Amino acid sequence: MKGIILAGGSGTRLRPLTKVTSKQLLPVYDQPMIFYPLKTLLDGGIKDILIIVAPDHAGDFLKLLGSGKDFGCKFTYEIQDNPGGIAQAFMVGQNFIGNDNVTLILGDNIYEDTFQDAITSFKSGGRIFIKDVKDPQRFGIVEFDENNQVISIEEKPKAAKSKYAVTGMYIYDNTVIKKVKHLKPSDRGELEITDLNNLYLKEKTLDIAFVNGKWFDTGTFESLHDAIVFIRDKKLAKKK
Ligand code: TTP
Repeated sequence: MKGIILAGGSGTRLRPLTKVTSKQLLPVYDQPMIFYPLKTLLDGGIKDILIIVAPDHAGDFLKLLGSGKDFGCKFTYEIQDNPGGIAQAFMVGQNFIGNDNVTLILGDNIYEDTFQDAITSFKSGGRIFIKDVKDPQRFGIVEFDENNQVISIEEKPKAAKSKYAVTGMYIYDNTVIKKVKHLKPSDRGELEITDLNNLYLKEKTLDIAFVNGKWFDTGTFESLHDAIVFIRDKKLAKKK
């Protein structure tokens, strides 16, 4: 199993904080944001990790993270020239992935859960992680049928069919490389991770698990603030 941290993007919703630096380098309490998704991969036993960054900030990530030696892993870096969508990670990363399976985590997603079992038990198809949210219009939202089976995933719906959002970690088998080449850019010009998940869903090979603990997508001021408060409280409680 290989790992990818997707840490490009534009971070427009966090401007002016992201005017001169990358969102994923911003502090979340006492650590740069990217340390949290990195820990999620490391705790899951993944030691071979590709970091995908935007051209402007590549040097800063290299300076912060280095070869991976300090973290007990190996980092590879790739540049995503333009923010062409989350699913584009599998185009940018295809040489790195080679013939292996891959776990992708977004560089601005913070999980309380650990995923060691979900990662080590993975055999084939796709595996995604859902969580109930208050603001479904921000996310890919799953639709269930009467037997509680997921029948579709809708990107940023105006009228959401459930409150369960697809969170920012995805495990795929090697067919992801072929699948991503079938995707067409959406109206907003991105290769959508929701379209990729719907391909696995259509094949009936998409496994859907629930996130039990807290989960933050720290792309807005509100969610970034909530994440910082949560991490601070947890760390202070541990010290007591
Ligand atoms: P988003 O929060 O959807 O996008 P963004 O980071 O560009 O922010 P904004 O919408 O405020 O402009 O991205 C989710 C994560 O995925 C984030 O860590 C950035 C990363 N990402 C990329 O690396 N490349 C991309 O093409 C996209 C769309 C996102």
